[in-house]
Amino acid sequence: ARVEKAGYKHFMAKEIAEQPVVLGDALAHYLPEDRINLPETLDFTDLDRLTLVACGTAFYACSVAKYWFEQIAGLPCEIDVASEFRYREPPLPAKSFAVFVSQSGETADTLAALRYCRERVERTVAVVNVATSSIARESDVALPILAGVEVGVASTKAFTCQLLVLAVMALKAGVDRGRLTPDALAAHVEALRHLPGLMNAALSLAPQIGKLAEQLSQAQDILFLGRGSMYPLALEGALKLKEISYIHAEGYAAGELKHGPIALIDRTVPVIVLAPHDRLFDKTVSNMQEVMARHGKVLLISDARGIASASEGSWATLKLPEVPEPFAPILYALPAQLLAYHTAIAKGTDVDQPRNLAKSVTVE
Ligand code: G6P
Repeated sequence: ARVEKAGYKHFMAKEIAEQPVVLGDALAHYLPEDRINLPETLDFTDLDRLTLVACGTAFYACSVAKYWFEQIAGLPCEIDVASEFRYREPPLPAKSFAVFVSQSGETADTLAALRYCRERVERTVAVVNVATSSIARESDVALPILAGVEVGVASTKAFTCQLLVLAVMALKAGVDRGRLTPDALAAHVEALRHLPGLMNAALSLAPQIGKLAEQLSQAQDILFLGRGSMYPLALEGALKLKEISYIHAEGYAAGELKHGPIALIDRTVPVIVLAPHDRLFDKTVSNMQEVMARHGKVLLISDARGIASASEGSWATLKLPEVPEPFAPILYALPAQLLAYHTAIAKGTDVDQPRNLAKSVTVE
């Protein structure tokens, strides 16, 4: 069936808005009742390492997941972009799984990385949106992300659904490796089940984001900062923005600010800080204050507690509902996507077909 915009101006807007529903579908599939629905062959018990390989937005999903596999399951985790991984000829422990994340399942570099791993690891796992794709067919295990057809070149709903599948994998790894008590598992599952509702709250920020975007669209450069699993989200926020608005944007680990990017800060540079009120919040706030001391324009994206304690001196804030710590990136992806979308709209660029980019890159 042909996919239509269903009343939205752009596929990207439709796909952003669909996230509560498609994430709900993926939740119903992977976490039915109180069970983790993943193949038995995905047994993480004795693994020495997990390797995650992807390109673009899918790589940032892997980068977030690394924090989960390490923290929740104590599983050493390596991540790489496929174009580097394949030529590096990395040694791989025999007791390891290699995971390939790809919306299309056809990205040439990711497919080549999969072929490299096939003979070298215990199991290859595909996390894909297109279930019939090459990467799905050539992997030992294929896990569909169930996002539905994604048309917009800038990936949105595929990203959050990739994160959900990776989060469920991390929970299974935590159980297999004896790191998660039944109570801790139940709390994580409950947290994931709340996400679609929280996403609806995030989507309702669109009008506010539209206003901020008018000012962001005047900027030459924009920085995104995050710590912990919010760091890869800062990278994804910057990627999304540059892809469709053509404004130069960079994501940085908040703690790295003083090692370089702080040199760029002046009144004209918006700095978007992704910082839920978690155990790293105070650290990020001190980086944010370094920006404000140099007259940077801070947009703080946080929850009620974070905004109440740290918004003084900021240019603007966006308030999200509170979300249990490890899974905040799944929610915070939405304001990042909306900021990119509305900034592109303010600039009048072609949101669904940005210049020079392709939805699926099947050549090197
Ligand atoms: C292209 C797309 C990106 C996507 C990347 C990886 O660059 O424009 O949105 O993240 O390819 O694609 P894949 O299909 O492997 O996820």
